[in-house]
Amino acid sequence: MHGMNKSVVAIGMAVLLAVSSGVMAQQTGEQVYKAVCVACHASGLDKAPKFGDRKDWGGRIREGQVVLTAEGLVGEGKMPPRGGKPELTTAEFANAVAFMARAAGATWKDPDAKMVGRIAAQEKKLLDRRKAKKS
Ligand code: HEC
Repeated sequence: MHGMNKSVVAIGMAVLLAVSSGVMAQQTGEQVYKAVCVACHASGLDKAPKFGDRKDWGGRIREGQVVLTAEGLVGEGKMPPRGGKPELTTAEFANAVAFMARAAGATWKDPDAKMVGRIAAQEKKLLDRRKAKKS
């Protein structure tokens, strides 16, 4: 009886760990930057605002965190939507934008859930506007 209880507890712990690591799996801005955005933003490829360049980023930072992040999500010119990685969550993409903005002098924090919601709403607005233009 004792032994069985132990293994039940062990299985329970394993399940808990698996579930919580799933929830915690969100990537930091630095991780996303290094995995994805670096390909263009490190060198300034195709006029991408260059990492750490205050001149490239200054005007964009002045647009504000919600607006600029949403613009990156929908993409613009040679900037592919979501950096070309549709599997990134809105929060992960937003973390990467905040990480790059900080490198160029902004004081932006990684967005909380409330701001992620505002970014998603702004993204939808931009997409709707684009659709309206096309038709
Ligand atoms: C394939 C190259 C490429 C990749 C990968 C890429 N970007 Fe970009 N990005 C660009 C280019 C080019 C621009 C400039 C677009 C313009 O202003 O016309 C840009 C602009 C931006 C802007 C400014 C948008 C605006 O409206 O001025 C943000 C924010 C941004 N990128 C975020 C990211 C993030 C975050 C990632 C990684 C998840 C990423 N980008 C990955 C090429 C890329």
